Amino acid sequence: MTAVDSAEFSLQGQSVTATAQGKVNLHLSVGDARDDGYHELVTVFQALDLTETVTLTVADIHEGVPAEMADLIGSFTVTGRDATKVPTGDDLADNLAVRGVLSVLEHYRDNLAGVPSATFPVLDIVVDKGVPVAGGMAGGSADAAAAMVATREILHGTGAVDTGFDRAPRPDDDTLAILAAGLGADVPFCLAGGTALGHGRGDVLVPVLTRGTYHWALAMDPRGLSTADVFARLDEQRSAAARGERPDQRAGGPEDAQRAILTGDVDVLAAHLDGAVVNDLQAPAISLSPDLRRTLAAGKDAGALACLVSGSGPTVAMLCRDRDHAVDVATALSSEGVGGRAVPTTTAASCRHGARIVSHV
Ligand code: C5P
Repeated sequence: MTAVDSAEFSLQGQSVTATAQGKVNLHLSVGDARDDGYHELVTVFQALDLTETVTLTVADIHEGVPAEMADLIGSFTVTGRDATKVPTGDDLADNLAVRGVLSVLEHYRDNLAGVPSATFPVLDIVVDKGVPVAGGMAGGSADAAAAMVATREILHGTGAVDTGFDRAPRPDDDTLAILAAGLGADVPFCLAGGTALGHGRGDVLVPVLTRGTYHWALAMDPRGLSTADVFARLDEQRSAAARGERPDQRAGGPEDAQRAILTGDVDVLAAHLDGAVVNDLQAPAISLSPDLRRTLAAGKDAGALACLVSGSGPTVAMLCRDRDHAVDVATALSSEGVGGRAVPTTTAASCRHGARIVSHV
């Protein structure tokens, strides 16, 4: 790495902090496996008021295009409750925050046509985790989304042009969404936030109208589940169903969920969630982690209006009447020691903004 004299660049030492939120799927129907290993799905995402915070600090300035783009990652640190579950050693290639930073830096490099001597930031990355790891709530995807908007701000934000960056066109939100889809199926939603209908792998989004605020208690099983394993188990279960060895119960279309959240009436949403299969990944998640059955039952016993596995699990989302009710249900589960740590949270009204910059100093 070639670092130039730091005194030349007032950008060195600047920090940008961005946030993005986790999600719950109010509807998730899964179709067949595709050739690329992904499944077609139709889902209704709603952002949760649980936040991932990514801070990028310009540790150094690199003159010219680095031989390895990974040389632009100075350090990587994770803080927050689940921090120890995130590997921070040498092999960072799979980490979604790192991949989010690199995707925007690579896009910048690839669009520098005709710029004779570009400079690049060497970035220290700090991720503060508010969404559980491997919980089916898109915490890693939120890291990627926050990292992407923060990197764009470093490259193209205030002062960047005076100090050696901003030499290629600033990627707009649509461009970031395309880059995001390359990182993972949930990353585009974490960029966009709010409430959306997802198609394709879940990465093709249409905003969905919603009213009101919904209150949830979330039981966060500390053991985690691999999303890939849950999809693979679904395929096995469907093969068994095709052989007549088990019933083939599938979620219908997303229309009922969309209608329910348009009412703003928690009882209408609860009746929908309780009355039908709304998440095709729930049965395979339970099959891989049978304790989930107990958590779902405990949520109902504690008075939740409806309980479902969030995405690929193992987080169980329990719909509650209001904030106090969500605190009560979370407390009841925590005190019984069922389903791991339980916390109250909200969706919808406070979660409309997607990934965004919260500080640039
Ligand atoms: O995109 P993401 O990395 O979150 O997906 C993790 C894994 O989950 C994929 O490698 C794939 O096995 C599975 N998956 C799937 N169909 C989707 C989304 C994810 O099969 N639509």
